[in-house]
Amino acid sequence: MTEVSTSKEAAGQPTARGDRIAVVIGSTRPTRICPDIASWIREVAQAGSPLTYELLDLAEVELPLDEPLKAALQQYHHEHTRRWSRIIDSYDGFIFVFPQYNWGYPAALKNALDYLYYEWRDKPATVATYGTRGGGKAATQLLTVLQGLHMRALDNHLELAIGDNDVDDTWQIIDVEATLHSYREQVRTIDEQLIEALKDDQQ
Ligand SMILES: Cc1cc2nc3c(=O)[nH]c(=O)nc-3n(C[C@H](O)[C@H](O)[C@H](O)COP(=O)(O)O)c2cc1C
Repeated sequence: MTEVSTSKEAAGQPTARGDRIAVVIGSTRPTRICPDIASWIREVAQAGSPLTYELLDLAEVELPLDEPLKAALQQYHHEHTRRWSRIIDSYDGFIFVFPQYNWGYPAALKNALDYLYYEWRDKPATVATYGTRGGGKAATQLLTVLQGLHMRALDNHLELAIGDNDVDDTWQIIDVEATLHSYREQVRTIDEQLIEALKDDQQ
């Protein structure tokens, strides 16, 4: 499996503002395929890009739904919330990668989003869903949530179709490149749109 750069490593690393994109691993199941897909997207997006793409794994982030006040007040009682706030503050844009679960998106991803508010605001973002038919229903739902957080959704997003022929008996992807190569151009377009969106910020 591809090595995942965890949020622990990402936390507090100083980089130039305006170029840091989190590729969020939005499934936290122990047998998930999400890290393989997110790693492929990160690599394709990074190739030749002036932006810096990093994996951000929600399985490494413990957020137990215990903040007493709503996130928009930014009065965080718990260190894990302050830490999550610093991590998200340190990114300039996001690609949320996640599966469709029962026509929706993973609860862990919604929880991670709802823990904060202003930290997401105005940042460019898109989604990459997957499922036997691409996970379009989950994509539509999360794009609505991003609107609620006043993020700037890109014009393009990805719906990756992963069928029974792409996986082995334990539902692990047999050959990630073979399964996903037809989406390469779409990932490159997303990189271009993120560059444009962040250029606008600097003007
Ligand atoms: C709770 C659950 C619900 C699922 N619902 C759907 C679904 O609505 N549509 C679909 O195409 N696949 C569905 N699947 C199959 C997933 O696409 C497949 O298990 C995939 O590996 C999940 O991603 P993950 O392994 O990264 O968690 C579901 C899987 C789980 C565990």
